[in-house]
Amino acid sequence: MIRKKVIAGNWKMNKTATDGVTLAKDIAAEIGRETGVDVVLCPPFTALASVAHALEGQSIKLGAQNMHPEKNGAFTGEVSAEMLRTLYVTHVILGHSERRTYFAETDAFINKKVLSALANQLKPILCVGETLAEREAGATLAVVQRHVEGGLAGVTKEQITTVIIAYEPVWAIGTGKVATTEQAQEVHAYIRDLLTKLYGAALAQKVRILYGGSMKPANAPELLAQKDIDGGLIGGASLEARSFIELVKAADAAK
Ligand code: PGA
Repeated sequence: MIRKKVIAGNWKMNKTATDGVTLAKDIAAEIGRETGVDVVLCPPFTALASVAHALEGQSIKLGAQNMHPEKNGAFTGEVSAEMLRTLYVTHVILGHSERRTYFAETDAFINKKVLSALANQLKPILCVGETLAEREAGATLAVVQRHVEGGLAGVTKEQITTVIIAYEPVWAIGTGKVATTEQAQEVHAYIRDLLTKLYGAALAQKVRILYGGSMKPANAPELLAQKDIDGGLIGGASLEARSFIELVKAADAAK
């Protein structure tokens, strides 16, 4: 398989710095030197520095959950790519559906963040996906196309393989309702087709496309066995070391 699998834990607004260090250390104790899978932990901003320290010397990578596209300035409450870089952050989740829904983030704004992340050597994890109403209206692929093309506008051929895309059907996030493997694979294959049109087949084959939405040890092996599913963006099951480690092992076994 030409694409290394990725398991990224999206802690959302959970874990103090102290609790985050405990979780990161528990995970690192078992898979800290894991080389078969790219493992990324995405704590809240307030835990980044302590978790970075806890992960020193380990192969586990650190991700943020959001950032602002500008370099600095009067943006109260925001954090820039450069600020994240100085905390040893290598990845950043952008365009998560919770940001789109609760903070009214648009594709145009998310695109600015993607370009800014790339310009600052951060790897974006660009989230895309439809709501239940959109799926029921038969608009899934159109929504995903808008999110992918909107989010990637201006991303060059040189940059595209450092972008990770996460397909997260909104109706499956935190609901326990996982997409069927067929539903997920269909959209993943569609995203790869879009990438092929935009960047050519050779580059499209190198981009990792993760599934997110109630992924757990019980359903992960089947999802991860799909041709175009290259890993997972994990919410709930990333908050506990045992389930997260099992997901990393499932990805390792599926490669
Ligand atoms: P979940 O969240 O695994 O709890 O469904 C996934 C996500 O929102 O990234």
